[in-house]
Amino acid sequence: MTALQHLAVGSRTLVQLAEPDDFEAWRERARVLVQGDVPPERIAWVEPGGSGDLFASAGGAGQQCLPVAPADAPPVRANRRFVQLARNALLHRDPERFALLYRLLWRLQATPRIMEDRADPDIRRVEELAKAVRRDNHKMHAFVRFRLVESGEGDEAGEASEHYVAWFEPEHHILRANAGFFMRRFANMRWSILTPAGSLHWDGAVMHEGPPAQRGDAPAGDPMEDLWRTYYAAIFNPARLKVGAMLKEMPRKYWKNMPEAALIPELIAGAQRREAAMVDAGALEFAERPETLAAIDTAIHACRKCPIGALENHAVMGEGPQDATQGFSGLMIVGEQPGDQEDLAGRPFVGPAGQLLDRHLEKAGIDRGGAYVTNAVKHFKYVQRGKSRLHQNPGAKEIDTCRWWLEGERAVVRPRLVLAMGASAARALLGKTVSISKARGAPLALEDGSELWITAHPSYLLRLDGEARTTQAALFDADLAAVKARLTELCA
Ligand code: URA
Repeated sequence: MTALQHLAVGSRTLVQLAEPDDFEAWRERARVLVQGDVPPERIAWVEPGGSGDLFASAGGAGQQCLPVAPADAPPVRANRRFVQLARNALLHRDPERFALLYRLLWRLQATPRIMEDRADPDIRRVEELAKAVRRDNHKMHAFVRFRLVESGEGDEAGEASEHYVAWFEPEHHILRANAGFFMRRFANMRWSILTPAGSLHWDGAVMHEGPPAQRGDAPAGDPMEDLWRTYYAAIFNPARLKVGAMLKEMPRKYWKNMPEAALIPELIAGAQRREAAMVDAGALEFAERPETLAAIDTAIHACRKCPIGALENHAVMGEGPQDATQGFSGLMIVGEQPGDQEDLAGRPFVGPAGQLLDRHLEKAGIDRGGAYVTNAVKHFKYVQRGKSRLHQNPGAKEIDTCRWWLEGERAVVRPRLVLAMGASAARALLGKTVSISKARGAPLALEDGSELWITAHPSYLLRLDGEARTTQAALFDADLAAVKARLTELCA
């Protein structure tokens, strides 16, 4: 089959991609359709795979009709935020995703700023899809478990011919998109990942795609499982256990593929007893810090190392590209902690402070989509007053405790420039309290070679009025302009 099929039937144009996860094919088709001036309501996007009949019957009635864009058609606008969201959202299993993305792209042509409108139902839906896909990616990174199926005598060069196989059931079309992650991580192993939608096979040099598989095609157990179980029991910290949160992060459906999960009921049962013993022994330390964003995300949800984590709230992980291939600009922006809306949405800086930040970033010419945005403290600290949850500043001890996770994010993302907004963020980066008014306007060197720039927190601006607000907003703009200029220099 060609990359894409396209027919006109009646007044509607049927478009079908060859693959459910081929963003580039969708993008190319959408570009031609926009330039051919075909409005969203005239297109029926058909889910790849299950609709051969539709095309067969349509074939009789319709005719081949590829729109041809006029030679002078203007280029199609799609800003970085749209492309980033669309890349992920397209991997969602929702059959409406192609139409939704096209509608948004179509609207973007007339209203370029539409991506900033977080209340827009299309934007919200695309964000939801993208988030679900990111979650599925995280689950795959965290829960794929390889099992040894073959351990031969070795090849001519004397290399052992071990082959590891994992079974995984993704919720969305994420298998191909994650090939690079597993290839980099297990570059020296020969492995296969089998799923009901297709399989990946890495021989140490070349990646092959294979057909869908069944659970029975993957082996059930091997001696490595003892190692997994020992490792998991060693890093399991009962003091951080919240069963509801753990089940949310590690749903039972993944347990069957994870040897260490066999230990979970037993570990939960013994958790309280062990926690008390650990408190007595003063041993409430983290054994090892996870080394991927996905694993940090999972771990912060279970983190109970300070009292904020024990409130009824959610951990909010940083978000944004993590390397140049994902469009990372080298900038990490650090705030204080998620607020009420961030806690509910599970994303940093989406509430009033985030909206103000977005406006100032845009004014400075800084693309938020190219930055990794996170917080010094990962949980929302609040006091309940009636129905409201009132923000509380995190204490120095809480910031210092949560620094562990921020350092983990920095180690993965490796920013060239870190912008700390507000005193809590500055403390998290420097390990000591500094005065914003003294520290702003010039870079400080961080131990990993990156530069730290400090400015005020946007919530501070929100609390001011009149002249004070104008003055502080101008200082904030000046800081952001300096950051933009420096980032451009650093990345030149
Ligand atoms: N304030 C912050 O510091 N971080 C957020 O994510 C939102 C508000």
